[in-house]
Amino acid sequence: MNFKKYIPGRIKRTLKYLLGYNRERMDFLYTRSGDKIGNLQRDESIFLYGLIKVLRPKVVVEFGFLNGYSSSVILSAIGEESRLYSYDITEYSRDAASQFAKSHTNFFFHYKSQEEFDGSDIAEEFIDFVLIDASHDLEINVATFEKITPFLTDDSLIMVHDTGVWEKKFMTAEHFETLNSTENKWLDAKRVAHQINERRFINWIVENETDFVTLNFGSSAVLRHGFTLVGKKRMLET
Ligand SMILES: C[S@@+](CC[C@H](N)C(=O)[O-])C[C@H]1O[C@@H](n2cnc3c(N)ncnc32)[C@H](O)[C@@H]1O
Repeated sequence: MNFKKYIPGRIKRTLKYLLGYNRERMDFLYTRSGDKIGNLQRDESIFLYGLIKVLRPKVVVEFGFLNGYSSSVILSAIGEESRLYSYDITEYSRDAASQFAKSHTNFFFHYKSQEEFDGSDIAEEFIDFVLIDASHDLEINVATFEKITPFLTDDSLIMVHDTGVWEKKFMTAEHFETLNSTENKWLDAKRVAHQINERRFINWIVENETDFVTLNFGSSAVLRHGFTLVGKKRMLET
């Protein structure tokens, strides 16, 4: 080994790492607590980050900005040339998004309900990736799905959040309190579907949209909000 070359290179790399130049911008995912109720969970965010990195979507649409957590995850994974369009209906989110947009030039916010999606919102382009995490309402989700499907390609993916069930043994007082403001259903004494309409929405897709396939990600080993990936059913080119 050539130590003269090795040592300065090693020092340079260590310095770069310590100064943050070499690090992936995903550190914030790992330092966050795991089970925030209103946002994607940490583990789910790491999955989303990896998925976006794999897919490298050009156009991403997110329904449900809240305070910009999932937007941050998506924006940290897409390149500068890709765009994120986010929707929310509260003044709180509108104001937070206008601050957020100042530091993200490829972020665009629409202050309107998800089912009011219109192609002109996204410059009539195709959508590569969609995150649905907004109304938690079956009819609104169905109307949204019908609006966005003409803009999907064979490769587009939709992630629908909150399709999992909460295991009672992991629930805290905060989780029980949250159930007062969500439409939920105890499936048995030990498990509650904390956003039952998101599950009904997936069942609606399975029953009515046979050109699509769904894959569910949940867990009974931890408190998991869960999500479902939805994509076009198709044969691969051979
Ligand atoms: C669960 S939070 C979104 C969390 C966010 N995706 C995250 O992980 O950081 C749901 C958000 O959807 C918004 N929302 C509710 N109904 C909506 C609708 N019909 N259209 C668009 N946004 C809606 C709420 O105001 C709220 O900010």
